[in-house]
Amino acid sequence: MAKSRTQFICQSCGNVSSRWSGKCEACGEWNTIVEENNAGGIAGGPQALRSPRKGRIVALTSLAGDIEDAPRIPSGIAELDRATGGGFVRGSAVLVGGDPGIGKSTLLMQAAAALAAKGNRIVYVSGEEAVAQVRLRAQRLGVAAQPVELAAETNVEDILATLGEGKRPDLVILDSIQTLWTDLADSAPGTVTQVRAAAQSVIRYAKSTGAAVVLVGHVTKEGQIAGPRVVEHMVDAVLYFEGEGGHHFRILRAVKNRFGPTDEIGVFEMSDKGLREVSNPSELFLGERHAKAPGAAVFAGMEGTRPVLVEIQALVAPSSLGTPRRAVVGWDQPRLAMVLAVLEAHCGVRFGQHDVYLNVAGGYRISEPAADLAVAAALVSSLTGLALPADCVYFGEVSLSGAIRPVAHAQQRLKEAEKLGFGQAVLPQGSEEPSGSMAGRSFQPGTLTDLVIRIAGSLRGDSGRASDDDVA
Ligand code: TYD
Ligand code: MG
Repeated sequence: MAKSRTQFICQSCGNVSSRWSGKCEACGEWNTIVEENNAGGIAGGPQALRSPRKGRIVALTSLAGDIEDAPRIPSGIAELDRATGGGFVRGSAVLVGGDPGIGKSTLLMQAAAALAAKGNRIVYVSGEEAVAQVRLRAQRLGVAAQPVELAAETNVEDILATLGEGKRPDLVILDSIQTLWTDLADSAPGTVTQVRAAAQSVIRYAKSTGAAVVLVGHVTKEGQIAGPRVVEHMVDAVLYFEGEGGHHFRILRAVKNRFGPTDEIGVFEMSDKGLREVSNPSELFLGERHAKAPGAAVFAGMEGTRPVLVEIQALVAPSSLGTPRRAVVGWDQPRLAMVLAVLEAHCGVRFGQHDVYLNVAGGYRISEPAADLAVAAALVSSLTGLALPADCVYFGEVSLSGAIRPVAHAQQRLKEAEKLGFGQAVLPQGSEEPSGSMAGRSFQPGTLTDLVIRIAGSLRGDSGRASDDDVA
């Protein structure tokens, strides 16, 4: 058999080196290199030692031809199906990542129960919790009566042998990939080598049998799926389950999907009876809004094909520091620096002596440049102490020249705002005019300066309070 070889493998990027060092040469991370004993399997193991076998002849085929139909298994949980692009795909492997305690096991137990109730064969293998713990959760979720088949096991060979018995399962949930280990690799569970080898076996099982497999992966506090970055490349779809501490809502986000869109999200709320679907996220993110206060602007954003309204909050306060503080939660730091620079350079608004804090309400994360205009409005509003009208939404991208550029899906954003009772909008020129109850109540600034003048102009009214009728 192969001689046992000691390797040093970076747990962050998977780089293999022959000796230990404090810093990984490949990815530059510190303290990530771990000694792993590789007696078989994975990197240059038995393949290199075995004598080459004669290959089997594979039948070649054409692009056109019959396709087996409906390879998806929809769960009936609309928010989950939205994120996966219409349900789990047979013969595919999905990685569901997220912080410990965010609710991955809860989500998958609910999905398992929903699918089992529709007559699918579902196997739930827990490597982290004992059977009793899983049962307790199922009871709490009110799904204990569903015919989900359950096991607490961590050895991949045993799991695959079990799955080979009886009718092929429609969906197999393995919770979590970090607890699995295979006889093929010698290192401890959770190391890159084990995780990669285990994932490989399981993915091979999915492809060869046509069962859908869900792997659960924990994310480290650095935001990576611990160890198995490599697994992300091996699976067909990667979903992240995210949420902000202290908030009840959770977002399931597709970051990779070979069979569907990657810009869709599913929104849930964690309750005492498990995860509840949130079909109108805007209401959730705007739920805690108070009456008018300076520094708050509502951004009409898009997540995939769905509009989402969120409140952006800015606090601009005099700084006692030599270098004023800029802190951002839920948005891009460089993007904030850019908006501040444009406001300073083109609009004469000075932030040099001020700390700037920016927060997206509800712990939500925005990745769209279309939020520029809302951010700028919130910043100017906080600096001047002038509250923006409470029933106004903002969207538009700010260019470095100070011009405001149109963004996609203007009509959908406006419709969502109108549905939620907003009466006016600030949007880029060239976008379609709002219709319905917002008609005639929009402001389309050509440059950021126009918006700043508009906000400062509301000072003309009674001492510093913007009237509700003022646009912006
Ligand atoms: P869990 O699914 O175990 O998280 P993960 O698998 O991602 O580590 O969820 C754990 C948290 O969810 C835990 O703090 C308790 C909470 N929870 C509820 O609030 N309500 C519920 O009905 C359940 C089952 C869990
Ligand atoms: Mg769990």
